[in-house]
Amino acid sequence: MDGNGRWAARRGLPRTAGHQAGQKALRRTIESIHQHGIRHLTVFAFSSENWQRPQVEVSKLMELLKKGLQKHIPELHKNNVRVRFIGRRDHFSQELSSLLVNAEHLTRNNQALNFNVALDYGGQWDICQAVEALKIQFPDQPITPERLQQHLCLQDQPLPDLLIRTGGEQRLSNFLLWQLAYAELIFSQTLWPDFDAADINKALQEFAQRERRFGMVNEQAPATVQIASA
Ligand code: IPE
Ligand code: MG
Repeated sequence: MDGNGRWAARRGLPRTAGHQAGQKALRRTIESIHQHGIRHLTVFAFSSENWQRPQVEVSKLMELLKKGLQKHIPELHKNNVRVRFIGRRDHFSQELSSLLVNAEHLTRNNQALNFNVALDYGGQWDICQAVEALKIQFPDQPITPERLQQHLCLQDQPLPDLLIRTGGEQRLSNFLLWQLAYAELIFSQTLWPDFDAADINKALQEFAQRERRFGMVNEQAPATVQIASA
């Protein structure tokens, strides 16, 4: 969800105003993708590298996260959304950690949408923690892609079909590196706070035009692709 800072700067506002507007865009996006029948959504809210931002911005982001959880979790729960957080947990305050655990617990049986939020997440960290788990579980076995995948974050959900990056950047920035191996990538110029239903429609239309072969030839690949996740 990129472009909050630039959105604010263009309006002569502090970067925090962009993050606040970004939260509204997220609320809209959840609703819109749910209306499209998409059952899995993972957003990159805070990367492991984001800790290196100026201290005041990091504090504001944590504050906004706390308020966002307090405000939106009851509403998401009411809408049958299951919320989960992926990434490290050991750098957050006790208060924030409890909010994360409580949100996951409250929504654990919900089925309308799996909404995953990557917080203090890095794709390289994800792969390393899976390898560590494998070393303990199968110390004498070779590491295979199938075994490793079972220990990655989101292992109980389908691999993403579509990645949308906003804000005009064209890179993965250490997001779900393994899981995105065969995802279609769409780069949108829209700054995240402006991202809306029209941007989602445009991305889904573009996705529908893509021919997905998964390393095979045309004739073997499925004629139509079901959107399992975004
Ligand atoms: C994304 O917007 C929000 C977070 C990483 C928390 P940015 O803050 O990266 O916005 P730009 O890239 O400066 O516009
Ligand atoms: Mg950015």
